Amino acid sequence: MANPYLERRYLLSFDSRLLPHIFTDVLVIGSGAAGLCAAIEAAQHGQVIVLSKDGIDQSNTYQAQGGLAAVIDEADSVQSHITDTLTTACGMGDEQVIRDVLSVAAEQIQQLHQWGCEFDTEQGRIALGREGGHTADRIVHAAGDATGMVLSDVLVKHARSQAGLKIFEECFVIDLLTDPPEGGNGSSCIGAITYHHRYGLQIIRAKCTILASGGAGALWRETSNPLIATADGAAIAFRAGVTLGDMEMMQFHPTTLYVAGGTRSLISEAVRGEGGTLLNREGVRFMAEYHEMGELAPRDVVSRAILDQMIKTGATNVFLDVRHIGAEAFAKRFPQIDRQCRSFGINPGDDLIPVHPAAHYMIGGARVDRDGRTSLEGLLSCGEAACTGLHGANRLASNSLTEAVVMGRRCGDLAGRESAQISNSISAGRIEWANPQSTRTELDLADIRNSLRSLMC
Ligand code: SIN
Repeated sequence: MANPYLERRYLLSFDSRLLPHIFTDVLVIGSGAAGLCAAIEAAQHGQVIVLSKDGIDQSNTYQAQGGLAAVIDEADSVQSHITDTLTTACGMGDEQVIRDVLSVAAEQIQQLHQWGCEFDTEQGRIALGREGGHTADRIVHAAGDATGMVLSDVLVKHARSQAGLKIFEECFVIDLLTDPPEGGNGSSCIGAITYHHRYGLQIIRAKCTILASGGAGALWRETSNPLIATADGAAIAFRAGVTLGDMEMMQFHPTTLYVAGGTRSLISEAVRGEGGTLLNREGVRFMAEYHEMGELAPRDVVSRAILDQMIKTGATNVFLDVRHIGAEAFAKRFPQIDRQCRSFGINPGDDLIPVHPAAHYMIGGARVDRDGRTSLEGLLSCGEAACTGLHGANRLASNSLTEAVVMGRRCGDLAGRESAQISNSISAGRIEWANPQSTRTELDLADIRNSLRSLMC
């Protein structure tokens, strides 16, 4: 039987001669922290286009609550951050990558501050929170629990101020283009074919492309992610023959707000960092049975423990108890979570918060080397779309934004410098692709999406 993946290298049949073309030095797919940092660096060397598949504020970055993990306190050490990351990674983290990224984390915080990111402070110093798996306070946050929103706004503003950098919103990448079109060994990435509801299909030809398209959480029914996190970055990379890694590793966050019929939303680990405790439906605190770090054990441990308690007590959820913090202090430290709880009639000062685990972070992705190069020439990758090996089998809390910023900047710099060295203009050679005609009935996409999400609950 013919290989359906090879037969359908592209989702669409197309002839590039019939489509409008846009040319750029660097094409960045994705507008979260990784994509924007990559774009800002690449723009120091040439023309850059950033594609955002929805509005620019629709990304996992924008929704991030906890913060960025970095060693800021003199009593802490990079070695301790590395050890916590390795321990949480269940023995599968790449120590060299971990060292490489975490040892520059504090510098990135300074850089973000220079770009305008106002991190929360306490007595004139950066305030540091604690999250699961960390043995020291090292989570840098902004506007309480709105770190992602603050970071995104700063990066978007800074990106928009760069000469030669354009952001196309609501522009969906259908496929990466390769030369030769069918991809395979020795081929290279030459841009992408995109769809915009107003402009239709377009070809964007680039000397270098960076895949920073985020994760896959929306494939699960129980998820902390926005609906746009549908793994299409992994899919376009796969169809182009890019080597993917660790795709079986999806991280579950222990605590999303669980109100039957309500939208799920994240309750940051930082809440447990402020002393929040977990109780089962009988009101019994249980984490000490599972790990010596209790509620601040690594995420996989806490998620499994919650699931175990849900099964043992026949409940749909457990409870987070933050009543000791007090209503006013809670609202000040966690304004977004407070608002979200109150919208369901839950007052965190008086009430227990119903929570349960949900899909949160795709650890796998396009396998990259320490500079962010994928197996396909001309294609780099960073952020959640990439698999660097830093997270091993389980990501340490708040290491993702740190990695996104470090690797995003590194990829952008490399892509910018390399594309500046390619002196010849970009070829607009014809690409033609014809998919075999299907003999089956039309797919009901809504049904497929719903069936998949209930299977992945
Ligand atoms: C959280 O605030 O709990 C999420 C942070 C992360 O995903 O690392």
